[in-house]
Amino acid sequence: MYVLHIRCILCRELGIIFWKSVPLDLNAGKRDQEPEAWGRGYMNILFIGDIVGRPGRNLVKVLLPSIIREHKVDFVIANAENAAGGKGITGPIKDELVGAGIDVLTMGNHVWDNKAVFDFIDNEPRIVRPGNYPGDCPGQGYHTYISGNCTRVTVVNLSGRVFMNSLDCPFRTADRILDEVRGTSDVIIVDFHAEATSEKQAMGWYLDGKVSAVIGTHTHVQTADERILPGGTAYITDVGMTGPMDSILGMVKEEALHKFLTQRPVRLTVARGRSQLDAVLLRFDPENFTVKTIKRVRYYSEE
Ligand SMILES: [Fe+2]
Ligand SMILES: [Fe+2]
Repeated sequence: MYVLHIRCILCRELGIIFWKSVPLDLNAGKRDQEPEAWGRGYMNILFIGDIVGRPGRNLVKVLLPSIIREHKVDFVIANAENAAGGKGITGPIKDELVGAGIDVLTMGNHVWDNKAVFDFIDNEPRIVRPGNYPGDCPGQGYHTYISGNCTRVTVVNLSGRVFMNSLDCPFRTADRILDEVRGTSDVIIVDFHAEATSEKQAMGWYLDGKVSAVIGTHTHVQTADERILPGGTAYITDVGMTGPMDSILGMVKEEALHKFLTQRPVRLTVARGRSQLDAVLLRFDPENFTVKTIKRVRYYSEE
């Protein structure tokens, strides 16, 4: 009997890790390893890009246990605004992703697309939606968690406003949230869910030295600009997408093309086929909780 087994093929120059699905390999212990152990002596946080539909969820379930084990990941954050058929999230899907090993699910402009979210978001501390929605919206814009190694990790979700909904100012909302969590967090991770690269870079510079990381989401395409800013904040414009590769942002490409060609509304559905998992690994010095490295990773399945 064959079962899915994950083998790591490293591209050391680019720092990108490609994974392939192959039949069960009884020599698993001999598979390629990174030259330096990622986790030893450090605290590691994995941030996974927008999970799109069933293909994205399935890849998370298959890969995440191996990723956690191989890279000594202590805490996992994932954007799940597209987890339910590309639009929003449901209770069972939330449980599915948490069961796969994700500690916190962040959201974005699709947070309210599936009305089932209203049934549980107020009672689910593991979901964080953009904090700059109007004050009477259900859910929470940030939350502080205790990771497995007793580190206090605050996860903040903010939405951009350029080419997006006109919400409260994300910059001033960040100020307000940081005032509230000051002194009670060791690590602060901001998911800035925004369309415009300029607005994302602006948020990175605005929060440099004030938070541990500003991770961009929403555009579904991983950018190659990850870095530690001068003030010590890790930054990437967009972490990417977890879902079907042969698609347009995770959706069936013919449907999206039809929409562009006809300029008429088209119902978009999640694509099928081989999938990718995009993420960044953040490595922290456990002595002072400063972020030492941010590393892009990409995994994919062949089917
Ligand atoms: Fe998304
Ligand atoms: Fe989005």
